[in-house]
Amino acid sequence: MNRYIAFVALLLFAGSLSAQDDACLVCHKPSPAKTKAQQVDTATIVGSVHAKLGCRECHAVDPKVNHKGNRTVFCARCHEAEAAGFNKSPHVEGRQASIEKLPTCITCHGGHDILAIADPASRTNHKNSVRVCIQCHEDQNLTEQVQQLPTATVIKAYENSVHGRALLLDGDMNAPACVDCHGSHSTLASDNPESPIYKTHISATCGRCHNDIEAKYDGSVHGAALVNGVMESPTCTSCHGEHNIRHPEDPDSRVFSTNISKTCSDCHAAEKVVAKFGLKADRIQTFKESFHGVATEFGDTRVANCASCHGVHDIYPQTDSRSMINAANIESTCGQCHIDLPASFASAQVHESASEKESGGEWYVRQFYVWFISLLILGFIIYRVLEYKRRVKRVE
Ligand code: HEC
Ligand code: HEC
Ligand code: HEC
Ligand code: HEC
Ligand code: HEC
Ligand code: HEC
Ligand code: HEC
Ligand code: HEC
Ligand code: HEC
Ligand code: HEC
Ligand code: HEC
Repeated sequence: MNRYIAFVALLLFAGSLSAQDDACLVCHKPSPAKTKAQQVDTATIVGSVHAKLGCRECHAVDPKVNHKGNRTVFCARCHEAEAAGFNKSPHVEGRQASIEKLPTCITCHGGHDILAIADPASRTNHKNSVRVCIQCHEDQNLTEQVQQLPTATVIKAYENSVHGRALLLDGDMNAPACVDCHGSHSTLASDNPESPIYKTHISATCGRCHNDIEAKYDGSVHGAALVNGVMESPTCTSCHGEHNIRHPEDPDSRVFSTNISKTCSDCHAAEKVVAKFGLKADRIQTFKESFHGVATEFGDTRVANCASCHGVHDIYPQTDSRSMINAANIESTCGQCHIDLPASFASAQVHESASEKESGGEWYVRQFYVWFISLLILGFIIYRVLEYKRRVKRVE
């Protein structure tokens, strides 16, 4: 019978506070006579994930001793893994540089009101967690004061990126928040070889969600070179950006059809990189001079860009049989867009310089289409202007 009563009592008191807490609440119960620092809203604690904890499991307080000013709170005692991660983060290191605005467990999680991460109302719920980070990283005063931090504008770009829009506007919980790329507690800097954003780890970090692309990229000339320590080789973010990643069909994307040659040129037209790896230095220039290049310059998205002929995540040297420009594949590569292209055409050197008269026929062909396309565009503009004038007249 006694047991039965004890059981019912347990049920009744589950979710309420313990007797040990009553000793504290003698003084800390809310009442108008008390200072704010003395008043504890027990309902908040009962509604939190920590409902079952006694006050002293978090507070290093002896109720019999005057403890005004004692703000020591234990979190690490029960959450060792999170605390260990946090303790090696720049957020803790920064204390040595006397940076004032640094987060602690409480800044990000709260105190008496901590909810389970999965609860949509938790401030560290997947979607809400972005707000936790940007309260500081989009604070212009802070980013100007702490030199190593990216500017507030750089971070703000995330909100307009394909990822930020998917998570914050569409509520797509599969899209990454800050913590998916940075980790929630260690948030190591990009120059730390253990960081998920250290250059050689980025493809795996993105690959958690884009694993098919990661697999392709890892085997490509660029992915393999990076694994072999060629730090100049591109990883996902070299081509896509970091916080400003856009959909490839968005004209602001670094990989939008007409922007691709610029993105490849960061390296393939960079003297240092080209010389160091014995790459051909004229690739961008010759592309710009080709029919495809000139049309691209005029915003034509149907013509070939670097990726149409070389591949995107699966780029290989010409000698590799998997390469789209390998002799065995070149016809089908041009054939994506050209039906019945003569074999001699496909095998021609695409990157032949046509900037000099000595290159013969090519030079004349180039002169022809540069003028031809320019005149076409000019004609179009004149036509639109005339049409506009006519319409204005008609309205009058
Ligand atoms: C999960 C751990 C945890 C538990 C359990 C807990 N507290 Fe706290 N408490 C905190 C944290 C964190 C803060 C905020 C400290 C800060 O802001 O520096 C805090 C703040 C306080 C404050 C100061 C309020 C203020 O506004 O300055 C008082 C008083 C207090 N707690 C009393 C209690 C009492 C009484 C209980 C038991 C009924 C209790 N706490 C249970 C973690 C806890
Ligand atoms: C005899 C009354 C009394 C008891 C019992 C008592 N406190 Fe306090 N506590 C105070 C007073 C007074 C303050 C100072 C409030 C202020 O700064 O205005 C205080 C402050 C605090 C603070 C905030 C420290 C600060 O200054 O920021 C915490 C946390 C706290 N108490 C926790 C507890 C816990 C946990 C217990 C139970 C184990 C407890 N107290 C029991 C009277 C008491
Ligand atoms: C209370 C303000 C604050 C909050 C909240 C905050 N940070 Fe920071 N963060 C800083 C400051 C200040 C630094 C610079 C510390 C240093 O480098 O020593 C920093 C450094 C960093 C760094 C390393 C930068 C570098 O080059 O050293 C990363 C990455 C980072 N934070 C990510 C995050 C993420 C992700 C979140 C959210 C989960 C977050 N931060 C929340 C203030 C904050
Ligand atoms: C810069 C902000 C920040 C700081 C500082 C921080 N956390 Fe977290 N914490 C988060 C975020 C965001 C999540 C949710 C992570 C996720 O979505 O996977 C989280 C998750 C957690 C979890 C749930 C389990 C997990 O790892 O996902 C625990 C427990 C936790 N934190 C405890 C702590 C403790 C203890 C401290 C202090 C030592 C601390 N946190 C410091 C932001 C922070
Ligand atoms: C006495 C041990 C203890 C202390 C001290 C403690 N916690 Fe917890 N915490 C727990 C337990 C138990 C849970 C519930 C775990 C679960 O449900 O998986 C929890 C849950 C959490 C969660 C939600 C985790 C999730 O996966 O949803 C967060 C966040 C958290 N604690 C942060 C803190 C912070 C911050 C502090 C310090 C202010 C703290 N805890 C102090 C034991 C503790
Ligand atoms: C899709 C992945 C991704 C997301 C989401 C993301 N970041 Fe980053 N972040 C990166 C990468 C990659 C770098 C490294 C840039 C570099 O190497 O210069 C970086 C750099 C940083 C840095 C500077 C770290 C350093 O050491 O250079 C901070 C601070 C930072 N991010 C904060 C944030 C915040 C805050 C959010 C959320 C609003 C966020 N990031 C969202 C991938 C991401
Ligand atoms: C947590 C999972 C996750 C991580 C990590 C992640 N992404 Fe994404 N990414 C997504 C989701 C989900 C979408 C689809 C968003 C939409 O269009 O609604 C997406 C969309 C994209 C797109 C636009 C194309 C498309 O299919 O919508 C690009 C490009 C992209 N991600 C690149 C990256 C890069 C580069 C990284 C690493 C720096 C990265 N992602 C990290 C989940 C992730
Ligand atoms: C050499 C530059 C380059 C690198 C490195 C690169 N990408 Fe891409 N990526 C592109 C281009 C160009 C496109 C657009 C292709 C198109 O329009 O069909 C693209 C398209 C995408 C898309 C959307 C289209 C799709 O196929 O689903 C995603 C997602 C993506 N990349 C993720 C990644 C990830 C993750 C990595 C790293 C593992 C990566 N990219 C590495 C250039 C690159
Ligand atoms: C961040 C710099 C960088 C970017 C951006 C970049 N590449 Fe590369 N690329 C390299 C380096 C470095 C190598 C040489 C790797 C090696 O062989 O070790 C290379 C090799 C190649 C090769 C093989 C060449 C040969 O002679 O073996 C091709 C083809 C290639 N890249 C095409 C592209 C295309 C197309 C783009 C744009 C979609 C691009 N690259 C973007 C740095 C870059
Ligand atoms: C119309 C198809 C086409 C376009 C567009 C194109 N290429 Fe090429 N590329 C080729 C062919 C075919 C070869 C091999 C024959 C040659 O060198 O002309 C080649 C060779 C190369 C090589 C040397 C590969 C090796 O293994 O030796 C690099 C690097 C390269 N291109 C980069 C680029 C870059 C960067 C762009 C964009 C600015 C670009 N290509 C645009 C078809 C193209
Ligand atoms: C992504 C589609 C695409 C790919 C791939 C492509 N081209 Fe083109 N190319 C075009 C378009 C569009 C034109 C404009 C003329 C047209 O509509 O036929 C053009 C025009 C040309 C022209 C000049 C005009 C003409 O029709 O005589 C040549 C030469 C040419 N391409 C050669 C090649 C070669 C060689 C390859 C393969 C190495 C190739 N192209 C791959 C889309 C492509």
